[in-house]
Amino acid sequence: MSIPDNVHALKRPRHIAIIMDGNGRWAKRRHLPRMLGHQEGVKAVRKVIKLCGEMRIEALTLFAFSSENWQRPEQEVNYLMTLFLNTLKNEIDKLTKNNVQLRMVGNLEGFNQPLREWIDKSQTLTAKNTGLQLVIAVNYSGQWDIVQAAQKIINQVKAGKLETEILTREIFAEYLSLADLPAVDLLIRTSGEYRISNFLLWQLAYSELYFTDILWPDFDEHELNKALQFYTQRERRFGCISEQLAEINA
Ligand code: FPP
Repeated sequence: MSIPDNVHALKRPRHIAIIMDGNGRWAKRRHLPRMLGHQEGVKAVRKVIKLCGEMRIEALTLFAFSSENWQRPEQEVNYLMTLFLNTLKNEIDKLTKNNVQLRMVGNLEGFNQPLREWIDKSQTLTAKNTGLQLVIAVNYSGQWDIVQAAQKIINQVKAGKLETEILTREIFAEYLSLADLPAVDLLIRTSGEYRISNFLLWQLAYSELYFTDILWPDFDEHELNKALQFYTQRERRFGCISEQLAEINA
């Protein structure tokens, strides 16, 4: 990756990605069912979307359900599906009013019909919005994303629309889920875990990584500001040395 033209303007991330972890532990600490942790998690989602919109962050990608989450107890998986559906139904007007463009990425074939219909509907309704680009990753994993990109490329080659000899990093990236968005500048993971957990793999190549012990339902404006403060203190060198960045910024 070369240094972006606007390296001097990178004090505010253009694209933030979040692994929202700790809903279950938040509930457990209060002797509540795990499901209530997820409900509170939705409130934190709402706050962060609003704040990112107000701060004119261009893109926000949230990891809501990984390809591996199907392995959870059936009752919890069913609850999460219902929560996604109800949240979409309840929030769509607000998203539209706030000029948010929503898209869901991942293997959507895994979801039931009503949820898929609402995903389509929400994406269509918000498609022309020009504010925050909100991406919800569901039934998503970084490895799935890379394999689906490879599969699309194979199909293109078979159809005679792409020559294998010209496959470059840039061309490969065009087939990934977030191809049209700026690279992820800042990844936030809550709940004190220091893992990427098969979230965006390709897209995190040069991201700054921020880990906090805060559990997702407690993530608020103060916590987001702490993450942004951390980000502003990083020197993003993209493989270069400090002196080269100083020249570019001069
Ligand atoms: C991780 O906490 C959280 C999830 C797997 C679900 C995240 C979903 C939401 C916050 C709802 C978002 C809804 C929309 C529509 C975007 P965990 O259950 O792994 O917590 P634990 O590690 O403490 O058990």
